[in-house]
Formats: sequence, structure tokens, C-alpha cells
Amino acid sequence: MNLKNKKILVTGGSGFLGGHVIEKLRNFDVQILAPNHKELDLIREESCRHYLLNQKPDLVIHCAGAISGLLNILKNPADIFDNNLRINLNILKFSYKFGVEKLINIGSTCAYPGELPTGYFREEEFLNGPMHESVESYGFSKRAMYIGGKAYRQQFGFNSVTLLLTNMYGPRDVFSIERSHVVSALIKKFIDAKRKKEPSVEVLGTGKAIREFLYVEDAVDAIIKAAELYDEEMPLNVGTGVETPIAELAESIKEISNYPGKIKWNTKGPDGALRKVSDISRITNKLKWKPKYDLKAGLTKTIKWFENNYESAIAKI
Ligand SMILES: NC(=O)c1ccc[n+]([C@@H]2O[C@H](COP(=O)([O-])OP(=O)(O)OC[C@H]3O[C@@H](n4cnc5c(N)ncnc54)[C@H](OP(=O)(O)O)[C@@H]3O)[C@@H](O)[C@H]2O)c1
Repeated sequence: MNLKNKKILVTGGSGFLGGHVIEKLRNFDVQILAPNHKELDLIREESCRHYLLNQKPDLVIHCAGAISGLLNILKNPADIFDNNLRINLNILKFSYKFGVEKLINIGSTCAYPGELPTGYFREEEFLNGPMHESVESYGFSKRAMYIGGKAYRQQFGFNSVTLLLTNMYGPRDVFSIERSHVVSALIKKFIDAKRKKEPSVEVLGTGKAIREFLYVEDAVDAIIKAAELYDEEMPLNVGTGVETPIAELAESIKEISNYPGKIKWNTKGPDGALRKVSDISRITNKLKWKPKYDLKAGLTKTIKWFENNYESAIAKI
């Protein structure tokens, strides 16, 4: 899809990813629609129908979701299930109905099977097994979004594309205890310990679990490239493929934060699966995309932003 002069609806524009998508799209010759929650409440069928009927966007980049953070998912699984299914069904149905040319669904690697023999996410194995119990309600809504898009493609030829994003981090992430992800949670811990001059920071687990971390600007580049170039039913991983033990992540954050104290590993805490890393060969082949930021560069920008915006960052719940 050539984006020039297109009308693009970004859902979830007040959120972490959606905000960065909008910022990037401002460099393009496009019309951006970024309604707030009041102007477009995706849970309400009538609100969604009314907005899409009146605005008739060409492209929808669907970043909205009632989500974020493992603690939030564990505490409110029914809300997560109910709200996300409604949001995703509404955006799919009315995008198709009111002539949207293409819908980009922002999925998640959380929707992959919880037990993968290799520990690598490969698109052809996306539905090959149950999700990890801890993220089932959230993951199910993401799988449903993909399967719904596939059904609309088969029955109506609708161009619904699903991207499977890994753990992201960056400026304007969520830093609250309940909704933060591992990178933002650790950054907050180290910066708080530095501010309070605490001698050590406790981190849960052994540090041996291997994960990958994607800087938000890289994620945005992949999303825009997929909007331009990818029209297939098969979902596409958006990750780094770089294997990073949690211990390395914590040490890097400690160093970049200039925190002089020690890290105390609470080995009674859970490690989770040993390895969860995306195979990015498909996106590399299809879109010629690779992340530009390594962990150190991404963390440096994020930590600098967090320290400069501490009060507003911790106020966001
Ligand atoms: N962050 C990650 O590491 C990560 C990893 C993989 C995938 N993802 C996916 O990426 C997408 C964006 O995540 P994020 O981290 O940017 O989340 P976020 O910061 O929590 O943003 C969520 C956005 O959704 C909006 N929203 C929620 N309910 C809505 C409703 N009923 N109607 C309209 N808008 C609604 C929120 O608006 P209000 O603030 O006004 O409620 C907010 O703008 C999600 O689909 C998420 O599953 C994120």
C-alpha cells in the first residue's frame, strides 16, 4: 500500500506504542486520525460503527487494547478477556464494513504456545499448542483477532494483517507497578534505589531466563513497513532475535542508570520459560527490516527520558 495521501486511523494513540506510531507518521504525507477514548470507545459497538462510518479511513493501525503488564492480566483476567475481544471484534467488523483497505492488528508473542520445544517463536507454530496459563485471557484475545482476520480474508478478501510484537520498551512506556513490563519495571527499581540511596536492588528469579527486548522506534518502523509492503495471512514476528539473559538486562540497566549498589537475586522468584525469543527471518526476508537499536542504545534513551520525566512517568497508571 502506498501511504501517500492516505487517511490513517491509529487506535490507542494515547498509549505507549500508538503515540510513537503517530509521531512517526507525522513525517509522512498522510492524514492521521487519532481519536481519544471518548471520541472512539472501541468496546462500544455503536461508537465504533459511528466513527468508522463517518471517518472512512483507508488504513487502520490497531494499537488499542485493555492490557499491559502481567500483574494486571493476573488480577483482572475476565476484564482483559471481555474488553479485548469486544475491541478486536468491533474494529475488525467495522473496518471491513466501511471500506478500510487494510487493517494492521498489533498482536503479541504472548499468544504463542507457552511450551515451545526450541524456545524460538516461529510463525508457522503460532497456534501449535496452549498458551501459558498466566497470559491466557490476553493471549486468547490476540489469537482470536488473528483468526477473525483470517476468516474475513477468506470470506470477503479483506486485507487483515497480524504482527506479533515481542516485549517493547522506550520513552513514554508504562512504569506503574501493576502495568509495567520487565524493562520499565527494572528501570524504575534502579532509579528509585539511586534516588533513595539504597544499597541494593532485589530482582526476582535467577537471571538465567532468556528474553528479547525491542526498542519502540524499531517496532514502529516495522509496523509502517508492514503497512506498506505486507499483505499476507500468515502473521509476522516483530522482535530482535537477540538472546538476552535477564541478568544481562539488569546489569545493563544498573550500569546505564549509574546505580552504585548491588543486585540481589531472589532465586525464590519465578524465572518462567527458559527461552522466549523470536525467529525474525521471515520479517527480514519479506520487509528487509531489522532493528536498528541494540539494547544499550535503547536503554540509554529510555533511562534518560525516565529520569528527565520522572514525575509524569510515575503518575501514569
Ligand atoms: N508494550 C509491549 O511490550 C507490547 C508487547 C507486545 C504487544 N503489545 C501490544 O501493543 C499494543 C499497544 O500496547 P501499549 O503498550 O501501547 O499499551 P498502552 O500504553 O496500555 O495503550 C493502550 C491504548 O489502548 C487504548 N484503549 C483501551 N481501551 C480502549 C477502548 N475501549 N477504546 C479506545 N481505546 C482504548 C488506551 O486508551 P486510554 O488510555 O484512553 O484508555 C491506550 O491508548 C497492544 O495491542 C498490546 O497488546 C504491546
